[in-house]
Amino acid sequence: MSENNPVIYACSPRAGGNTDCAAHCLRQGATLAGKEAKLLFLRDHPTTPCCSCYACATPPHACALDLNSAPADGMSVLTAPLLTAPILFFVAPVFFYHLPAQFKAFMDRTQRFYLMKQSGDPQIKTLSQRTAYIVLLGARKSGSKLFEGSLLSLRLMLGIFNIVLAKPLLLHGLDGSTDLSNNSALQTHIIHYGRQAFSQIRHHP
Ligand SMILES: Cc1cc2nc3c(=O)[nH]c(=O)nc-3n(C[C@H](O)[C@H](O)[C@H](O)COP(=O)(O)O)c2cc1C
Repeated sequence: MSENNPVIYACSPRAGGNTDCAAHCLRQGATLAGKEAKLLFLRDHPTTPCCSCYACATPPHACALDLNSAPADGMSVLTAPLLTAPILFFVAPVFFYHLPAQFKAFMDRTQRFYLMKQSGDPQIKTLSQRTAYIVLLGARKSGSKLFEGSLLSLRLMLGIFNIVLAKPLLLHGLDGSTDLSNNSALQTHIIHYGRQAFSQIRHHP
Protein backbone atom coordinates (compact mmCIF):
# COMPACT_ATOMS: atom_id res chain seq x y z
CA MET A 1 0.00 0.00 0.00
CA SER A 2 1.48 3.35 -0.99
CA GLU A 3 1.75 6.34 1.29
CA ASN A 4 -0.86 8.03 -0.90
CA ASN A 5 -3.59 5.66 0.18
CA PRO A 6 -6.74 6.77 1.97
CA VAL A 7 -6.31 6.44 5.69
CA ILE A 8 -8.63 5.64 8.58
CA TYR A 9 -7.47 6.88 11.98
CA ALA A 10 -8.96 4.77 14.78
CA CYS A 11 -8.61 6.95 17.86
CA SER A 12 -9.70 4.98 20.92
CA PRO A 13 -7.30 3.73 23.56
CA ARG A 14 -9.63 0.70 23.98
CA ALA A 15 -8.70 -2.11 21.62
CA GLY A 16 -11.61 -4.06 20.15
CA GLY A 17 -14.27 -1.56 21.18
CA ASN A 18 -16.81 0.52 19.28
CA THR A 19 -14.28 2.74 17.52
CA ASP A 20 -12.33 -0.20 16.18
CA CYS A 21 -15.55 -1.82 15.00
CA ALA A 22 -16.60 1.40 13.23
CA ALA A 23 -13.14 1.69 11.63
CA HIS A 24 -13.47 -1.85 10.26
CA CYS A 25 -16.92 -0.95 8.92
CA LEU A 26 -15.42 2.00 7.05
CA ARG A 27 -12.79 -0.27 5.58
CA GLN A 28 -15.55 -2.60 4.44
CA GLY A 29 -17.18 0.42 2.81
CA ALA A 30 -13.91 1.06 0.98
CA THR A 31 -13.79 -2.51 -0.27
CA LEU A 32 -17.38 -2.26 -1.53
CA ALA A 33 -16.41 0.89 -3.41
CA GLY A 34 -13.43 -0.93 -4.92
CA LYS A 35 -10.86 1.02 -2.89
CA GLU A 36 -8.20 0.23 -0.33
CA ALA A 37 -7.63 2.09 2.93
CA LYS A 38 -4.89 2.01 5.52
CA LEU A 39 -6.06 1.55 9.10
CA LEU A 40 -4.00 3.52 11.60
CA PHE A 41 -4.56 2.85 15.31
CA LEU A 42 -3.60 5.92 17.27
CA ARG A 43 -2.81 3.87 20.39
CA ASP A 44 -0.02 2.10 18.47
CA HIS A 45 1.78 5.42 17.99
CA PRO A 46 1.88 7.24 21.32
CA THR A 47 3.05 10.83 21.24
CA THR A 48 4.53 13.03 23.91
CA PRO A 49 2.33 16.09 24.57
CA CYS A 50 3.46 19.52 23.37
CA CYS A 51 5.46 21.33 26.05
CA SER A 52 4.89 24.79 24.56
CA CYS A 53 8.61 25.49 24.19
CA TYR A 54 7.98 27.22 20.83
CA ALA A 55 11.17 25.81 19.33
CA CYS A 56 8.97 25.36 16.24
CA ALA A 57 8.17 29.07 15.98
CA THR A 58 11.10 29.84 13.70
CA PRO A 59 12.44 28.09 10.59
CA PRO A 60 12.94 25.18 10.10
CA HIS A 61 9.96 24.85 12.48
CA ALA A 62 11.31 21.63 13.98
CA CYS A 63 9.70 20.17 17.08
CA ALA A 64 12.09 19.83 20.01
CA LEU A 65 10.29 16.62 20.99
CA ASP A 66 10.94 15.12 17.53
CA LEU A 67 14.60 15.93 17.94
CA ASN A 68 14.96 14.76 21.53
CA SER A 69 12.62 11.78 21.80
CA ALA A 70 14.49 8.56 22.21
CA PRO A 71 13.09 6.33 20.92
CA ALA A 72 11.22 8.57 18.49
CA ASP A 73 7.51 8.85 19.25
CA GLY A 74 4.65 8.29 16.85
CA MET A 75 4.36 11.75 15.35
CA SER A 76 6.00 11.05 12.01
CA VAL A 77 3.72 8.07 11.36
CA LEU A 78 0.60 9.98 12.39
CA THR A 79 1.49 13.11 10.48
CA ALA A 80 2.43 11.61 7.11
CA PRO A 81 -1.17 11.02 5.90
CA LEU A 82 -2.12 14.60 6.77
CA LEU A 83 0.33 15.62 4.08
CA THR A 84 -0.25 12.91 1.50
CA ALA A 85 -3.56 11.01 1.86
CA PRO A 86 -6.21 11.83 -0.77
CA ILE A 87 -9.05 11.23 1.68
CA LEU A 88 -9.05 10.74 5.43
CA PHE A 89 -11.33 9.24 8.06
CA PHE A 90 -11.22 9.86 11.79
CA VAL A 91 -13.17 7.61 14.14
CA ALA A 92 -13.12 8.53 17.82
CA PRO A 93 -15.06 8.12 21.04
CA VAL A 94 -16.10 11.14 23.05
CA PHE A 95 -14.27 11.53 26.35
CA PHE A 96 -15.67 14.33 28.52
CA TYR A 97 -17.28 15.98 25.50
CA HIS A 98 -14.03 15.97 23.55
CA LEU A 99 -11.49 13.75 21.88
CA PRO A 100 -9.44 11.26 23.93
CA ALA A 101 -6.17 12.51 25.41
CA GLN A 102 -4.04 10.54 22.95
CA PHE A 103 -5.67 12.39 20.08
CA LYS A 104 -5.32 15.74 21.83
CA ALA A 105 -1.58 15.10 22.23
CA PHE A 106 -1.33 14.36 18.50
CA MET A 107 -3.40 17.43 17.68
CA ASP A 108 -1.29 19.78 19.81
CA ARG A 109 1.89 18.53 18.20
CA THR A 110 0.62 19.74 14.80
CA GLN A 111 1.21 23.27 16.09
CA ARG A 112 4.51 23.35 14.22
CA PHE A 113 2.62 22.98 10.92
CA TYR A 114 0.29 25.81 11.94
CA LEU A 115 3.33 28.01 12.48
CA MET A 116 4.89 26.88 9.20
CA LYS A 117 1.72 27.89 7.40
CA GLN A 118 1.61 31.23 9.20
CA SER A 119 5.11 31.98 8.00
CA GLY A 120 4.19 31.11 4.39
CA ASP A 121 6.02 27.79 4.15
CA PRO A 122 5.36 26.49 0.61
CA GLN A 123 5.13 22.81 1.63
CA ILE A 124 2.08 23.55 3.75
CA LYS A 125 0.62 26.41 1.75
CA THR A 126 0.46 24.39 -1.47
CA LEU A 127 -1.23 21.27 -0.13
CA SER A 128 -4.21 20.36 -2.29
CA GLN A 129 -7.66 20.45 -0.74
CA ARG A 130 -8.86 17.12 0.63
CA THR A 131 -11.84 15.90 2.61
CA ALA A 132 -12.03 14.25 6.03
CA TYR A 133 -14.96 12.09 7.08
CA ILE A 134 -15.54 12.01 10.81
CA VAL A 135 -17.28 9.33 12.84
CA LEU A 136 -17.73 10.23 16.50
CA LEU A 137 -19.44 8.08 19.10
CA GLY A 138 -20.44 8.47 22.71
CA ALA A 139 -22.38 6.75 25.45
CA ARG A 140 -25.04 9.40 25.97
CA LYS A 141 -28.30 8.53 24.29
CA SER A 142 -28.97 12.11 23.21
CA GLY A 143 -27.59 15.62 23.41
CA SER A 144 -26.80 17.95 20.53
CA LYS A 145 -23.66 19.33 22.19
CA LEU A 146 -21.95 15.98 22.70
CA PHE A 147 -19.83 16.27 19.55
CA GLU A 148 -19.44 20.04 19.22
CA GLY A 149 -16.05 20.45 20.90
CA SER A 150 -14.45 17.59 18.97
CA LEU A 151 -15.74 18.84 15.64
CA LEU A 152 -14.56 22.38 16.23
CA SER A 153 -11.03 21.25 17.14
CA LEU A 154 -10.87 18.81 14.22
CA ARG A 155 -11.93 21.55 11.83
CA LEU A 156 -9.16 23.83 13.09
CA MET A 157 -6.45 21.17 13.14
CA LEU A 158 -7.27 19.72 9.73
CA GLY A 159 -7.66 23.18 8.23
CA ILE A 160 -3.91 23.66 8.65
CA PHE A 161 -3.47 20.89 6.05
CA ASN A 162 -6.21 22.18 3.73
CA ILE A 163 -8.46 19.32 4.78
CA VAL A 164 -12.17 20.17 5.02
CA LEU A 165 -14.76 18.25 6.99
CA ALA A 166 -17.54 16.35 5.24
CA LYS A 167 -20.87 15.89 7.00
CA PRO A 168 -19.90 13.80 10.03
CA LEU A 169 -21.56 10.64 11.29
CA LEU A 170 -22.45 11.14 14.95
CA LEU A 171 -23.49 8.13 16.98
CA HIS A 172 -25.17 8.22 20.39
CA GLY A 173 -25.78 5.39 22.83
CA LEU A 174 -22.62 3.35 22.36
CA ASP A 175 -20.91 2.54 25.64
CA GLY A 176 -20.03 -1.11 26.33
CA SER A 177 -17.22 -2.44 24.16
CA THR A 178 -19.57 -4.73 22.19
CA ASP A 179 -22.44 -2.28 21.71
CA LEU A 180 -21.59 -1.69 18.07
CA SER A 181 -20.45 -5.20 17.20
CA ASN A 182 -23.87 -6.40 18.46
CA ASN A 183 -25.75 -3.86 16.34
CA SER A 184 -25.67 -5.00 12.73
CA ALA A 185 -28.09 -2.29 11.56
CA LEU A 186 -25.77 0.43 12.79
CA GLN A 187 -22.76 -1.33 11.29
CA THR A 188 -24.54 -1.36 7.93
CA HIS A 189 -25.16 2.38 8.30
CA ILE A 190 -21.44 3.02 8.88
CA ILE A 191 -20.44 0.76 5.98
CA HIS A 192 -22.78 2.76 3.77
CA TYR A 193 -21.28 6.06 4.99
CA GLY A 194 -17.81 4.72 4.13
CA ARG A 195 -18.86 3.37 0.78
CA GLN A 196 -20.40 6.70 -0.22
CA ALA A 197 -17.26 8.54 0.82
CA PHE A 198 -14.87 6.20 -0.96
CA SER A 199 -17.00 6.37 -4.08
CA GLN A 200 -16.08 10.07 -4.31
CA ILE A 201 -12.50 9.15 -5.17
CA ARG A 202 -12.32 8.96 -8.94
CA HIS A 203 -8.75 8.03 -9.68
CA HIS A 204 -7.09 5.85 -7.17
CA PRO A 205 -4.42 3.23 -7.84
C1 LIG B 1 -12.65 8.79 30.23
C2 LIG B 1 -13.97 8.62 29.53
C3 LIG B 1 -14.77 9.72 29.34
C4 LIG B 1 -15.99 9.59 28.67
N1 LIG B 1 -16.77 10.68 28.48
C5 LIG B 1 -17.93 10.57 27.81
C6 LIG B 1 -18.75 11.73 27.58
O1 LIG B 1 -18.43 12.85 27.93
N2 LIG B 1 -19.93 11.56 26.93
C7 LIG B 1 -20.33 10.32 26.47
O2 LIG B 1 -21.41 10.22 25.87
N3 LIG B 1 -19.56 9.21 26.66
C8 LIG B 1 -18.39 9.32 27.33
N4 LIG B 1 -17.60 8.20 27.53
C9 LIG B 1 -18.04 6.91 27.00
C10 LIG B 1 -17.36 6.52 25.67
O3 LIG B 1 -17.50 7.55 24.71
C11 LIG B 1 -18.00 5.23 25.14
O4 LIG B 1 -17.84 4.19 26.08
C12 LIG B 1 -17.45 4.81 23.80
O5 LIG B 1 -18.29 3.82 23.25
C13 LIG B 1 -16.04 4.27 23.90
O6 LIG B 1 -15.61 3.89 22.63
P1 LIG B 1 -14.55 2.70 22.43
O7 LIG B 1 -15.27 1.41 22.71
O8 LIG B 1 -14.14 2.79 21.02
O9 LIG B 1 -13.42 2.97 23.36
C14 LIG B 1 -16.40 8.31 28.21
C15 LIG B 1 -15.57 7.20 28.43
C16 LIG B 1 -14.37 7.36 29.07
C17 LIG B 1 -13.48 6.14 29.28
